Amino acid sequence: RTVYVNGEYLPEHEAKVSIFDRAFLMADGVYEVTSVLDGKLIDFAGHAARLERSLKELDMRAPCDTDTLLEVHRELVRLNGIEEGLVYLQVTRGAPGDRDFVFPDPETTEPTLVLFTQNKPGLADSPAAKTGMRIISIEDQRWGRRDIKTVQLLYPSMGKMMAKKAGADDAWMVEDGFVTEGTSNNAYIVKGNKIITRALSNDILHGITRAAVLRFAREAQMEVEERNFSIEEAQAADEAFVTSASAFVMPVVEIDGVAVGAGTPGHRAVRLREIYLDESR
Ligand code: PDD
Repeated sequence: RTVYVNGEYLPEHEAKVSIFDRAFLMADGVYEVTSVLDGKLIDFAGHAARLERSLKELDMRAPCDTDTLLEVHRELVRLNGIEEGLVYLQVTRGAPGDRDFVFPDPETTEPTLVLFTQNKPGLADSPAAKTGMRIISIEDQRWGRRDIKTVQLLYPSMGKMMAKKAGADDAWMVEDGFVTEGTSNNAYIVKGNKIITRALSNDILHGITRAAVLRFAREAQMEVEERNFSIEEAQAADEAFVTSASAFVMPVVEIDGVAVGAGTPGHRAVRLREIYLDESR
């Protein structure tokens, strides 16, 4: 696989980053994951805009302009022959010569830019979309700025392991009695014709897929209600699903051992997945 590091396209085993890189020592980095279908990037502009916002919120310098980022995405997709898969991008505050809690001077420390692709044939036609996911609930123990897409993914990773140990597929995180989001996706329930999902705030990531799916839902005459919901309300809902750049729209069929609706993917979730895959290609 060919990867990209700070201006260079390299075989992955030749790509190197300093041990003093702030992302390695302090999780001082942000990232984006953009999906690829039919060799084309899905919603690149949305991901680029969110990256810009993440960088700004952390007072971090952009490594280059958006056009250059788009070119690197396209070149990696081409070089690696990706038809279906993902492009991962990470920007860090760079590698000053030593470990220090104080941010390095942006004049002298260049940000680190890394991109690589993940080949995922069959991503759009995923069998999981037909069976649906089983979810457990866990306490949300992340920091308070989940709107910034940082590489601090230890707790979401632990959450995924808790789910696996419990024989489930993923976890929804709960704070003050309400679902925030999934370990790596936004969470939704459906009641009648209404799609219910938590409103945007610093408590959740502002999903690029979320924005598109809510728009498609409204266009398909579904109602959208942006508000908090609890695990109990989700268990009693007609349907549930999650969205993300890698999962698109993925039905949820069970929450903490309780079947949601008929315990099979709900028809609105299935419809929204179809619309999303059709419209965003
Ligand atoms: N995760 N919420 C969290 C906590 C996420 O990590 C993600 C994405 C989302 C969905 O955002 P989007 O629709 O923009 O992908 C919501 C990516 C896919 C990941 O970490 O791999």
